[in-house]
Amino acid sequence: MTNKERKARYYNKLKKDADLYSYAPIALRIREVANNPNASAADLANVILHDHGLTTKILKLANSAYYPPYNRRISTLTHAVVIMGFHTIKTLALSVSLYERFQKSDDGDSMMRTFWIHSVATALCSNQIAQMLKYKSGEEAFVAGFLHDIGKLLISFFTPVEWDAISMKIEMGYTSMQAELQQLGTYHTEVGEYVGTEWNLPENLLAVMRNHHRIGVRETKKSTEPLVDIVYIANLIAHRVFHEKGASVCSLKDLKRQAKYLLNLSSEQVNKLIDFVKQNTTNTAEELSIPIFSLNDVGESQEDASVEDETTLKEITALKNFIQRKNVEKRLMFELSESFRQSTKISEIYTAFTEGFFRNRLFDVVILFRVNRRVEYLEGVLAYGVESQEEIRNYRFKLSSKNNVFATVVEENRTELVVDVTQPAYVDTIDKSFVDSLNITSFACVPVVVWGKVESLLMVSYYNEDSVINDDMIEMVHLIAMQAGSALERLIPNKRLIE
Ligand SMILES: [Fe+2]
Ligand SMILES: [Fe+2]
Repeated sequence: MTNKERKARYYNKLKKDADLYSYAPIALRIREVANNPNASAADLANVILHDHGLTTKILKLANSAYYPPYNRRISTLTHAVVIMGFHTIKTLALSVSLYERFQKSDDGDSMMRTFWIHSVATALCSNQIAQMLKYKSGEEAFVAGFLHDIGKLLISFFTPVEWDAISMKIEMGYTSMQAELQQLGTYHTEVGEYVGTEWNLPENLLAVMRNHHRIGVRETKKSTEPLVDIVYIANLIAHRVFHEKGASVCSLKDLKRQAKYLLNLSSEQVNKLIDFVKQNTTNTAEELSIPIFSLNDVGESQEDASVEDETTLKEITALKNFIQRKNVEKRLMFELSESFRQSTKISEIYTAFTEGFFRNRLFDVVILFRVNRRVEYLEGVLAYGVESQEEIRNYRFKLSSKNNVFATVVEENRTELVVDVTQPAYVDTIDKSFVDSLNITSFACVPVVVWGKVESLLMVSYYNEDSVINDDMIEMVHLIAMQAGSALERLIPNKRLIE
């Protein structure tokens, strides 16, 4: 299923199953007031007042939005509606009552608590940035920061099965964005915007929900809605202070560079913001009765990394990459054995097998050759990362040429690893124009064996000259190729290869 199809299916489900106001009686009453053109600030306040907990939280949030200074402490809801605006208070009430449902129903969900903390941290930070930049409304920035990730909350409330699947993927090592895309064909950013539109939220809030990860936007390109960049940077800072599973943490250097590009914030200002979030989130969250349990200080010093630290940083990065790759491999093996099990066509097995390596970024070049025993040729059938998928059909290797690496793989049923194509030892065994056309320096060929014979072979490689394929990676490809072979035995009659 493509992401587009997945997305359509998800939205259908959301439209069919979810009355986007039905999660709490208070939300339904808020909708009535909000839909009434004659409703006043007092009418909205009256509805919210029925829920004591909600009233307290909204007043606390409203006061946090004005922090600092507290010179005009907001003590009544009507006052809050007048100052912060009808739509803002309506939005806060809708989302806070949604949060409340979670707190009551699922105390053990650590992801949800971390989510709360993250929302408060982003809200406070957005508000601070707004003040530094003299942005027109600090309260607006606060509310935008508080609600930016509401798409996640909506996914988990209205479609809990999908949420569980996403959480599981995050546990397996996917980032939350990857997990969402795989499961829903879309991201929490778009779901937030979709529901926000149904709730009639103002356009600048919708823009923040939609674009706060700046997906596909050039790093240096400022957003047309300044609130988007404010929340984008606040979100990065919040993630540095409070770690959240599935979120990638931006390095301090990178954070400062982006804050400079997008908002013209200085290095000191970023340091101040980090300190501010560290010092104030906990208090604000406690005031809002959010239990704190996962406070992690930033791991790095707030000074830019010195040259001496560079080596250590490099080692750490290499180790992190290694662990990440291992996670990807583990996940891929799990994923592929599942799709092999479910496949009912030979082509499905081959597509999953080859595409998996490319999609998970384990290799830049992945080509599948089928053995054509009738004409004694290897024929390219599937290719990823090669300029033209069609072109691959032109790659043919005659199996009779004795020294050819590909022929060896087929005839001797063994994996071949070529670590440097330019070495003299390989001159006669590799089709030079072929590897040149792929722009690679090392590659590996792994056979897929069905009923004891090589049915096809997979060639994998990188474009990157610095990274050479190693035995460890080949071992993994080999294991998956064996699984693919057994799956193919289910679909290919034994006779076909014995003839
Ligand atoms: Fe987000
Ligand atoms: Fe976020």
